[in-house]
Amino acid sequence: MQDQITRIRAEAAAEIGGIRDGEHLEQFRIRYLARKGSIASLFDGLKAVPPAEKPALGKALNELRAFVQDLYDTRAQELAAGRGPASALDLTLPGRRQFSGTKHPLTQTLDEIKAIFVSMGFTIADGPEIEDDFHNFGALNFPPDHPARDMQDTFFIGKDVLLRTHTSPVQVRVMEQYPPPIRIIAPGKVYRNEAINARSYCMFHQVEGLCVDRGVTFSELKGTLITFIKQFYGSSLKYKFRPTFFPFTEPSADIYITCFLCNGKGCRVCKNGGWLEILGCGMVDPNVFRDLGYDAEKYTGYAFGMGIERIALLRYGIDDIRLFFENDIRFLGQFARQ
Ligand code: PHE
Repeated sequence: MQDQITRIRAEAAAEIGGIRDGEHLEQFRIRYLARKGSIASLFDGLKAVPPAEKPALGKALNELRAFVQDLYDTRAQELAAGRGPASALDLTLPGRRQFSGTKHPLTQTLDEIKAIFVSMGFTIADGPEIEDDFHNFGALNFPPDHPARDMQDTFFIGKDVLLRTHTSPVQVRVMEQYPPPIRIIAPGKVYRNEAINARSYCMFHQVEGLCVDRGVTFSELKGTLITFIKQFYGSSLKYKFRPTFFPFTEPSADIYITCFLCNGKGCRVCKNGGWLEILGCGMVDPNVFRDLGYDAEKYTGYAFGMGIERIALLRYGIDDIRLFFENDIRFLGQFARQ
């Protein structure tokens, strides 16, 4: 009987791969697994076997039945799913494509900005997104009643705890921790309590810059930022500095570049002015140095801050800032780099 078990096992295993339709599969079942099938008749034959051999043979028969049943079930599933036998090679199937991820457009923009400043000797600093009033405002020479502290603009978490509204508190933290000379940029997220629409969002990214040393001048600020603009946007781009006010810099300026969508002629994006504001900058106010224990007679410095979304929106011609944060891969996939 053991020989028969071995033979049936081998036959069933050989046969199953060739079965291509339900009809043949049913014949297979009838031949092996049905009440009058070959396995059932072996079970019948057990009665005639000497008692000493019964347990071993009974066990072998049970295993055979389970094995053939499993062949049957697997094949039935494959046929139901419309697949060929597992061992068959179907050369008509399309290949499996590999999808690779891409860097987020904001990350790509940031990477480029960082590389330019690193090449000019800046290192990269970092600070917390949850800040206190002192680092976000007080140490930056904002008077106590400054409107930026207003609940309209700032997300307060507690009386003195808030989500930073700009990356300038990193300037303060760096100056608290290190003596001059300083030459850092600080990229990161900032938060403002603004209505969410195509142009503004409650969170965005800035890159802060700070340079402090003996004899740092406004012309050094200009040289550094003009070099950055030319490297980032191309050397033929026109730019201009326009005086403005920040509590923590004096004098202060906004830098504008010619709108590269309309080339300065005036369009929807530059609101017909032909110019786009891309960053704020200025010489560090001596009050900031004094509060942080830097000798304002000995040291001067400049600082700047720019918004990354804005730069990326203009650069890629994107018309809605919300697209950056929805994680729709149909959007993100367009920024693959070859
Ligand atoms: N922190 C300013 C802002 O968010 C930008 C800035 C940074 C201006 C550093 C001057 C110097 O608008």
